[in-house]
Amino acid sequence: MDEMKHVISAKSFSREALEALLATAGEMRVIQAQGGADFLSHKVMAALFFEPSTRTRLSFETAMLRLNGRVISTENAKEFSSAVKGETLEDTIRVVAGYADVIVLRHPEIGAAARAAEVSSVPVLSAGDGAGEHPTQALLDMFTILTEVGRLDDLTVTLVGDLLYGRTVHSLVYLLSLFRDVRIVCTAPAAIPLPADVIAYAKARGVHVSFEPDLSRAAKKTDVLYQTRVQKERFPTVGHYEAVRANYVIDTRILSELPPHSIIMHPLPRAGEIDPGVDRDPRAAYFRQSHYGVPVRMAVLKECFTSN
Ligand code: CP
Repeated sequence: MDEMKHVISAKSFSREALEALLATAGEMRVIQAQGGADFLSHKVMAALFFEPSTRTRLSFETAMLRLNGRVISTENAKEFSSAVKGETLEDTIRVVAGYADVIVLRHPEIGAAARAAEVSSVPVLSAGDGAGEHPTQALLDMFTILTEVGRLDDLTVTLVGDLLYGRTVHSLVYLLSLFRDVRIVCTAPAAIPLPADVIAYAKARGVHVSFEPDLSRAAKKTDVLYQTRVQKERFPTVGHYEAVRANYVIDTRILSELPPHSIIMHPLPRAGEIDPGVDRDPRAAYFRQSHYGVPVRMAVLKECFTSN
């Protein structure tokens, strides 16, 4: 995190800072199980969501409440905030920064969180900026891998599905790039590949990036099978979406190829790309992953208000 403790991009984390945050998240799991703690009494978090959300908004709100903070929230801010009257994002942020001690922002435009941070007098935590990044999702994804697989070095992570518009994978690649002997395998339709700049970032940091269009073959050799939803809302036409949406589905056949020690992750929501028949398998980690969002966001919020 930078001086103002904004969380805008996963690129801003060092390995040391990430490991410290994950350790705090481990402590927060214990505190959560005990019901909470008083760390953020009298602090107010504003949740400004200009796009739909279940997990990110509710887990941030839960995290704040578990730390005895308070929450003000605008769901569907595109229609139910003064944005509908033409207020700019910058003006909204300037105003809300006078009401709250931290702002959690989800917005459909790439770069919106950075724009908000430019004008905000309180920390801005990005909850996703269009097809750009989703840094706190990547933090909880790394916590999931560490908790479930037991390590962050020497991993094969297979990214499946919409790697172009799927902002969670961009942030995840940036965080994985902090670790040693990481192999990223891309299993994606040709129309929605991992962006070249994300690949270049990983390769420049020693990550081995490869491409395997056959999901069964990729599944055989992976530690983490990270499935994503094809992001219908970001495609130029429904036809472009329909052409790729059902390309890769994890079902019991794929499950039979996966090594016993591996896990299946998904940021959720899913829209048909993981068969519900997979859910009972202990390697299906995606619902546990969604639950880790609370302790990880408790750690992020606590860090916001901790002086260095
Ligand atoms: N993973 C995630 O961002 O889910 P929501 O869109 O429900 O917040």
